Amino acid sequence: GTSDQDKAFQDKIDRNVRIEPRDWMPEGYRKTLIRQISQHAHSEIVGQLPEGNWITRAPSLQRKAILLAKVQDEAGHGLYLYCAAETLGVSRDELTEQLLSGKAKYSSIFNYPTLTWADVGMIGWLVDGAAIMNQVPLQRCSYGPYSRAMIRVCKEESFHQRQGFDIVRALVEGTEDQKAMAQDALNRWWWPAIMMFGPPDADSTHSEQSMKWGIKLNSNDELRQKFVDQTVPQAEWLGLTLPDPDLKWNEDRQSYDFGTPDWDEFFNVIKGNGICNRERLDARNKAWDDGAWFREGLMAHAEKTTKQNIA
Ligand code: ACO
Repeated sequence: GTSDQDKAFQDKIDRNVRIEPRDWMPEGYRKTLIRQISQHAHSEIVGQLPEGNWITRAPSLQRKAILLAKVQDEAGHGLYLYCAAETLGVSRDELTEQLLSGKAKYSSIFNYPTLTWADVGMIGWLVDGAAIMNQVPLQRCSYGPYSRAMIRVCKEESFHQRQGFDIVRALVEGTEDQKAMAQDALNRWWWPAIMMFGPPDADSTHSEQSMKWGIKLNSNDELRQKFVDQTVPQAEWLGLTLPDPDLKWNEDRQSYDFGTPDWDEFFNVIKGNGICNRERLDARNKAWDDGAWFREGLMAHAEKTTKQNIA
């Protein structure tokens, strides 16, 4: 665009006017949104896998019904977000191809394994807790379809977070073994959850421009701090210990100081070398291949109906 167009656009953002699909927008804005929204959609879709792994082994009928509903919600969030991305001119097939080929990123957190039932609790409590911390502000992001999608997604995420907390509560109120199982899962999920917010601000390539455009409302480190501050009292209430020896209340900042995550591990995971990256992509590719007969059937049916309508 011309510099006049860019200035008028920035002015709209600064006045909190939502940008809608047919409005003019800088190419960079469009590209950044497609990247972020599609990564978000892929995360919801891949995010079904670690928990889906426990649907057949949930400890009671009620827990199973709840988990099933939650995993279905995630599929819904993914589809909802793909639709939001499509309003920016990218096709669903392109996005699917990017995920299946391993070209697209999705959240680092879903490359860790769910070894016990307590892990399902940790995903709800910590992972969905972190997701809400990041997504509540996105309800006010500058792109209309994305901001509106976030409203429903956040309502459902908050149910997910509570169901996870309730799983952990039941475990810590159970036998010593059950409490130990919860502690072990917390030890494994805490740091990956902290890393979900992305690299430290100094290493975040997109933050500055995305915040100027209202695509991000807070920096990665701001949200990470808010998450720590919210979660420490919850862990205390549960009687669990967060695996961070540097965690300490800072009276001056009225906030918790905490240790540094293993950022080498983070970058390694997002490069595709985490514990479960290959397994996750294989599962998505298999689902796509197994669904071929259904897509072909739909296409054949659509073709037949079109022909009948013409005749
Ligand atoms: N997992 C995988 N990749 C990540 C993560 C993460 N946790 N955090 C950052 N990255 C990637 C970015 O995608 C970017 O890579 P790219 O340039 O190849 O796209 C790179 O690391 C640098 O990071 P930033 O510049 O900080 O990236 P960005 O401004 O996009 O911020 C964030 C990352 C905070 C995740 C942002 O994209 C966002 O808010 N997304 C929407 C929420 C979302 O996707 N949540 C998914 C998990 S929650 C859930 O599904 C339950």
